[in-house]
Amino acid sequence: MCGIFAYLNYHVPRTRREILEVLIKGLHRLEYRGYDSAGVGIDGGNGKEWETNCKNIHLIKQTGKVKALDEEIHRQQDIDLDVEFDVHLGIAHTRWATHGVPSPVNSHPQRSDKTNEFIVIHNGIITNYKDLKKFLESKGYDFESETDTETIAKLVKYMYDNRESDDITFATLVEQVTRQLEGAFALVFKSVHYPGEAVGCRRGGPLLIGVRSDHKLSTDHIPILYRSSGKDKKSCSTLPRMDEDTCLFPVDEKAVEYYFASDASAVIEHTNRVIFLEDDDIAAVRDGRLSIHRIKRTAGDHPARAIQTLQMELQQIMKGNFSSFMQKEIFEQPESVVNTMRGRVNFENNTVILGGLKDHIKEIQRCRRLIMIACGTSYHAGVATRQVLEELTELPVMVELASDFLDRNTPVFRDDVCFFISQSGETADSLLALRYCKERGALTVGITNTVGSSISRETDCGVHINAGPEIGVASTKAYTSQFVALIMFALLMCDDRISVQPRRREIIQGLKVLPDLIKDVLSLDEEIQKLAAELYQQKSVLIMGRGYHYATCLEGALKIKEITYMHSEGILAGELKHGPLALVDKLMPVIMIIMRDHTYIKCQNALQQVVARQGRPIVICDKGDYETIKNSSRTIKVPHSVDCLQGILSVIPLQLLSFHLAVLRGYDVDCPRNLAKSVTVE
Ligand code: F6R
Repeated sequence: MCGIFAYLNYHVPRTRREILEVLIKGLHRLEYRGYDSAGVGIDGGNGKEWETNCKNIHLIKQTGKVKALDEEIHRQQDIDLDVEFDVHLGIAHTRWATHGVPSPVNSHPQRSDKTNEFIVIHNGIITNYKDLKKFLESKGYDFESETDTETIAKLVKYMYDNRESDDITFATLVEQVTRQLEGAFALVFKSVHYPGEAVGCRRGGPLLIGVRSDHKLSTDHIPILYRSSGKDKKSCSTLPRMDEDTCLFPVDEKAVEYYFASDASAVIEHTNRVIFLEDDDIAAVRDGRLSIHRIKRTAGDHPARAIQTLQMELQQIMKGNFSSFMQKEIFEQPESVVNTMRGRVNFENNTVILGGLKDHIKEIQRCRRLIMIACGTSYHAGVATRQVLEELTELPVMVELASDFLDRNTPVFRDDVCFFISQSGETADSLLALRYCKERGALTVGITNTVGSSISRETDCGVHINAGPEIGVASTKAYTSQFVALIMFALLMCDDRISVQPRRREIIQGLKVLPDLIKDVLSLDEEIQKLAAELYQQKSVLIMGRGYHYATCLEGALKIKEITYMHSEGILAGELKHGPLALVDKLMPVIMIIMRDHTYIKCQNALQQVVARQGRPIVICDKGDYETIKNSSRTIKVPHSVDCLQGILSVIPLQLLSFHLAVLRGYDVDCPRNLAKSVTVE
């Protein structure tokens, strides 16, 4: 939901061309967050003196993807790309529209006025923007866009024009603005009044800062400055400024580069040293130095932000030989599930250790109920593992869509344990549900793929699924890793119950061979491509199954919908005769999942019902199931696994099918229309 990127070079000479290249590259990495328009804001002058060049800001904005913006940049006549800047801040944005259609005027950066005194990039939604706009209009401000963000740009100018003191800092101004904002945001500001300075802040939207210098950092954390409590040594009653003891580098060292970004994939090629901002942090770079301040200290506040070293490799986020990130991520699953289990599952002595839960596992074992809360694909991972969780924990397990859970004001108690399953760790509905459960005293557990994300930080404990960055908007490898992580949790919950040990051993040994079985399923790619060639002109596909595979039906249908724009529905086979059977005739494409588990006979009955209505279902089945193979006109045969793991193998043919259907229909697999990877608004 919009990507933010800013690059500040301080005493590191860069031409405008180089600066724009850094900005465009950063946007490309963030494009999965939104891609209906993009823009950059840079210093505009073409003279020899920095002091003059930084006195006007040049905006370039374009509808469409980042590539279109790049082309527009190269069409610009009035900026000289060879002008060099010793100090410069450039800000950039890729948008996923929430207020106002995709258009250059609605793209970010948004500006305070026609001379671009202040510009801002924003990820999130300002819920009180109408009131702010009305106020600003009453003060004579003219609005040009339909965005909520434009109010922020105008508000900062209003604060500046009405400042009490001439030496007000940029950070103080931004603080005054954030006090007026309601909703969710991550913001970065640039201004002609504060050349070479950047201010970024967040509340509800992710924002991190990468730091690069040839010099060793002189600290591994940044102490927080507080504005309000005068007693505090680190308080700053007026202007937050860097103290000597908060310098990142030796005092005489000047050259440094900063990168502000919505996520780490945009900075990793420049630096692996990053600071994750917390809600209500205001981070400012002034004279090349970074400071972070907060308005007031609250109980539980951490007094510093750590400078973390990211382990992520750039090659992890590149496409490699694949035509799309989604395809690459589907084929990564033999490795990604191993990474989820690495160091956690011991196949020799059948044990599971989850370090992130170790301090809370006893409390979880004593709870009255488990509630899995998530959206989209992550919700399906909860549906897929619910049965085995119920079996191994002997606890009631609820699986909830975060939005509906909140809409219902669902009762939550202190002895509930609430799981938040989220690839990005930033999904607004899941995050709000997390805060809702925390307020009611439940223990909260995060199952996320993004280190440092809001959900992983705000939950009491959790499991990182370690699937590696997922860039394709359609989630694939995160689903199978969430699946494995939840199974590991179920195994951990019953590790001291003697009666379930044979079942535990069966599942753990099933996990051991899972990566090889996934490879077997991936070898069906060509066969599935041929099937896609037969189906890609259809309007609709129904996917039916039950038990462990109902989640596969929902997930397969979601994949088909989101990247092929075909209608698709996941149907619980047990519900067939209660309505959906009416859709079946000889023309309707039907995929059925039939595996040799406790629902086998019932699934065979469903198959007969479909065939009796002249349906010719394509059946995903166990490769040793000769009965089904004999009775079906078409089968996709997958290897056999333990019943509760089989869903990992049944979903992969549908991931591949949706991918091939989308390619054949001519769509951009990684960037489906109207969708974004990380949905940070409700
Ligand atoms: C579908 C998909 C979405 C996400 C959903 C939740 O392919 O990716 O349905 O699963 O938006 O996102 P996370 O898991 O980041 O909370």
